[in-house]
Amino acid sequence: MTRQTRRRVIAGNWKMYKTQAEARALVSALAPLVAQAAHCDVVVAPPFTAIVAAVEAARGSSIAVSGQDLFWEKEGAFTGEVSAAMLVDAGCRYVIIGHSERRQFFGEIDDSVHKKTKAALVAGLIPIVCVGETLQERESGATEAVLDRQFRGGLAGLTPGEFSRILVAYEPVWAIGTGRVATPEQAAAAHGFLRELAASVFSAELASALRILYGGSVKPDNIAGLMAQEGLDGALVGGASLDAKSFAAIVNCPTRK
Ligand code: 13P
Repeated sequence: MTRQTRRRVIAGNWKMYKTQAEARALVSALAPLVAQAAHCDVVVAPPFTAIVAAVEAARGSSIAVSGQDLFWEKEGAFTGEVSAAMLVDAGCRYVIIGHSERRQFFGEIDDSVHKKTKAALVAGLIPIVCVGETLQERESGATEAVLDRQFRGGLAGLTPGEFSRILVAYEPVWAIGTGRVATPEQAAAAHGFLRELAASVFSAELASALRILYGGSVKPDNIAGLMAQEGLDGALVGGASLDAKSFAAIVNCPTRK
């Protein structure tokens, strides 16, 4: 597989945290701290209600804003849902799709991940598609089967052009919010597996260009070890993205030589 240079992405998933005022304050504090981070794309994903506040506060900086989910229909009687076009209208450039918390608590399945990914791409958003196994799945040796099912179920059927625009986030469920980060070697093995899968489902070239982020208890003190792994192209950060200094420390982690 020819090795491509992949630009790092550090994305903060705020989950169900931050009011509008808090979002404004966080992005305003973050912007100067990451102003020199020319080596990576910086993304924040506020809850829907704080997206516009974050977009306004990010104006003039390199910080891009993401939704945390979307619905695949353009509009209609879908109480509680938000469309891709609505996210674009609010100023988003990215959207997280298939996060394990959506899968665990809100009935997200691979088929809905697929429909949402398609809808996001049609609207011009960059989907950050999440995959990852539970602790029970890992301990029973099912990690690769789960990643295979989630990857194919969510992404097979995209055109090569569509696939070239997505990001994949590997987030082992047992590492999310637990403080139990995957070792750099465990993460690298999963990323390697996903890249091979991308090569077999799409092409070696597309697989080599695919950016795969790691998520699960990423902190300022473990980011360097993770980013030292060749197959890790960035991070999807939960708790540590809620504070400007800790998120900036993750963003500003030097690139590997
Ligand atoms: P934590 O960084 O809080 O473990 O969350 C990870 C995550 O779920 C990001 O999407």
